[in-house]
Amino acid sequence: MQRTLSIIKPDGVASRLIGEVIRVFESAGIRIAAIKMKQLTRREAEGFYYVHKERPFFGELVEFMISGPVVLMVLEGDNVIARNREIMGATDPAEAAPGTIRARWASSKQNNIVHGSDSEESANFEINYFFSQIEIC
Ligand code: CMP
Repeated sequence: MQRTLSIIKPDGVASRLIGEVIRVFESAGIRIAAIKMKQLTRREAEGFYYVHKERPFFGELVEFMISGPVVLMVLEGDNVIARNREIMGATDPAEAAPGTIRARWASSKQNNIVHGSDSEESANFEINYFFSQIEIC
């Protein structure tokens, strides 16, 4: 059993896609082990995306992530890190496979509705960044 961090980003929340995205995960047999809504501070968003701090899009990414509330979730299931990435689709919605969350609803590389951890190492960091042990069921 594996865990990963999922975020419904401000564009997903503003477009009222919270229910749709959760439906996709649950229909795929993935369990929601923790969930909360939060307005990230600049400091929290910068810390979360610190691996991208040298990238040219870092400033805009942080602005976007603090532009409205997000939904933070811990997803649980077999091989859930890779499965979640498949379900989300490629970062760029133009390259995302048909039927994936990003192909269906994302509008750009930045405004791409969801985030998902890309490895076990980042899943551990990202889950612990937003959740304490007692919040995970
Ligand atoms: P995410 O999976 O959350 O990981 C890093 C985020 O940076 C990514 O989704 C996008 O929202 C954003 N991102 C990645 N590449 C680009 C890019 N080339 N231009 C703008 N934003 C990007």
